[in-house]
Amino acid sequence: MADFTQIWTEKYRPSKLSEMINQRHIVSRLEAFVKDGSIPHLMFAGPPGVGKTTATICLARELFGEHWHDNYFELNASDERGIDVVRVKVKDFARTRPLGGDFKIIFLDEADALTKDAQQALRRTMELFSKTCRFVLSCNYPSKIIEPIQSRTVVFRLKSFVDADIKILIEKVAKKEGLTVDKEAYDALTEIAAGDARYVINLLQASAALNNHVTREDVYEASARAKPEDLKKMMDLAIAGKFSEARSVMLSLLVTKGVSGDLIIKEMHSLIVNGSLADKKKAELINIIGEFEFRMLEGATEVIQLDALLARIASLRRENV
Ligand SMILES: Nc1ncnc2c1ncn2[C@@H]1O[C@H](COP(=O)(O)OP(=O)(O)O)[C@@H](O)[C@H]1O
Ligand SMILES: [Mg+2]
Repeated sequence: MADFTQIWTEKYRPSKLSEMINQRHIVSRLEAFVKDGSIPHLMFAGPPGVGKTTATICLARELFGEHWHDNYFELNASDERGIDVVRVKVKDFARTRPLGGDFKIIFLDEADALTKDAQQALRRTMELFSKTCRFVLSCNYPSKIIEPIQSRTVVFRLKSFVDADIKILIEKVAKKEGLTVDKEAYDALTEIAAGDARYVINLLQASAALNNHVTREDVYEASARAKPEDLKKMMDLAIAGKFSEARSVMLSLLVTKGVSGDLIIKEMHSLIVNGSLADKKKAELINIIGEFEFRMLEGATEVIQLDALLARIASLRRENV
């Protein structure tokens, strides 16, 4: 039976740089730092779930060995109440001597959540403690980090996982947990995860909650995503002017499957953009969808807006005949 006493993303977080899948271009440079026994200030930029935190922890483990916990301190910039808290905590941590090394690592996660003023203060803190501390910052967008910090750090850009690497990751976890994963389930996991390693592992764990055999159904159920064929059925019915039937598919997605309204609209949009309708028809539908997406963002009731959207699409048919 698969293990549900732990969160798999933590259980399978690589503890050595060499175990990291993907990001080879970065890993080899980080390994060179480890060999030197020293690192500059670093910045890891990239989308969620691609190894920013993992790379930092691996570095700390390899640089400090068993004492790594004493020399490593992690702060989330978006959780902490402003830069003052960061400063005090950093000061407290930086005050004591590093154990078994020359410096400590301070990992500041989501540094791009700090305001520009807070970043200026952070820059001064970095300067103040640079003898005993190396700062590792993570962010989604390096352009949101002020230039004086960027220029003090070596910036690494981590990329989303390509599908083949997501597949390697799924295989690895499935094997360790004794899961059988159907080919179609692999495809669904990969498609939904869109290059996010954390998301795919979480989704795999949720999909395996009922039994060790993971099917495509399980994945869609666990992800609260609409299956493309259900969406297509709903759209085809609406386009054919069959409002009530389209509506019942929509309700089953929304109510029974728990798919959110904005996701239904987003996926309708991509279905049409990538579909084979004539351009004129495509443009007409996309226009309508855009309008309803806007209303939903403004806070209008989901089910009423989806009803109205399907009604509008269904009425096109009548106008045309
Ligand atoms: N390069 C990688 N190789 C293997 N697993 C990874 C890799 N990157 C991320 N993961 C998995 O995804 C989880 C989240 O990664 P993390 O490093 O926390 O992402 P983030 O970039 O958001 O900091 C990890 O716990 C690990 O299970
Ligand atoms: Mg992280």
